[in-house]
Amino acid sequence: MDAIIRTIDSARHERERERRTEGEHGTAPVAAANAPDLPATADVGLTDTVTFQLPVVALDEARRERERILAPGAVGAVGGPYKMLRTQVMRRLAELHANTLAVLSALNGDGKTLTAINLAIAVAAQSGHTALLVDLDLRNPSIHRRLGIEPKVGIEDCLERGRPVHEAMVKIAGYERLTVLPARAPLAHSSELLAAPRMAEVVEELQTRYINRVLIFDLPPVLLADDALAFSQHIQAGLLVVAEGRTARLNVTRSLELLHKLPIVGTVLNRSQQSIDTYY
Ligand SMILES: Nc1ncnc2c1ncn2[C@@H]1O[C@H](COP(=O)(O)OP(=O)(O)O)[C@@H](O)[C@H]1O
Ligand SMILES: [Mg+2]
Repeated sequence: MDAIIRTIDSARHERERERRTEGEHGTAPVAAANAPDLPATADVGLTDTVTFQLPVVALDEARRERERILAPGAVGAVGGPYKMLRTQVMRRLAELHANTLAVLSALNGDGKTLTAINLAIAVAAQSGHTALLVDLDLRNPSIHRRLGIEPKVGIEDCLERGRPVHEAMVKIAGYERLTVLPARAPLAHSSELLAAPRMAEVVEELQTRYINRVLIFDLPPVLLADDALAFSQHIQAGLLVVAEGRTARLNVTRSLELLHKLPIVGTVLNRSQQSIDTYY
């Protein structure tokens, strides 16, 4: 397994940033704004000549900050660790000739969804690369809520009812090379869907049809459902998220044992209390 990447506890970082800014200027920091005038639809790059017009959803600044989602082109203490994570993940994926990655953790609340979203943003921030973020935590989908998307069609409709995947795809205003494939509503029988041949077809289509695309899948916790295990047959690599001071070592070991066939490209030590001054 590769080096551990630390993503800092961004709540702590925010407190520190506010303290500094107040000390220096007496005002709250001004956050980067998303581009205000955006088209309602955007083209998506395909390997063939068909282009789809995808709906574009605006992510408002308050939601973005509340959900700790990276601003487009974010750097510094918040963006830096994700850029480093991105670079290492991309290098390992290239070594594996892979472009599909599952974001995994032992239990709930370790930071899978946040890591998946911010990693996808960091991948898409690299010119020449596009990222597709797919919500396969079908038991408890949350990417749509985090990003303020109200999907009419979700990935579950593509899996269950054969709807074409592009009907569920959404772009987020200001995040140029990022596409999101959200889920709509919780499903009880999700592991059957994730293990089914239709899932393999969908992954293959997503994998081969789009140019320079990295596919990032958010999944339910490895130890709470068989979904991650069921889905692992369809993908090439995993990234393990561990919450510092929260995830028990035994649970990490059990997760890795369960997924022993899947190459793990690295571990994210999330909510690290390490000083933010080491990132610049
Ligand atoms: N590095 C972090 N700093 C601060 N809050 C975090 C961090 N990572 C996750 N969180 C918060 O913890 C909660 C759980 O994270 P989430 O990504 O939903 O975990 P999971 O998908 O593994 O259940 C969310 O409210 C998220 O915003
Ligand atoms: Mg989650």
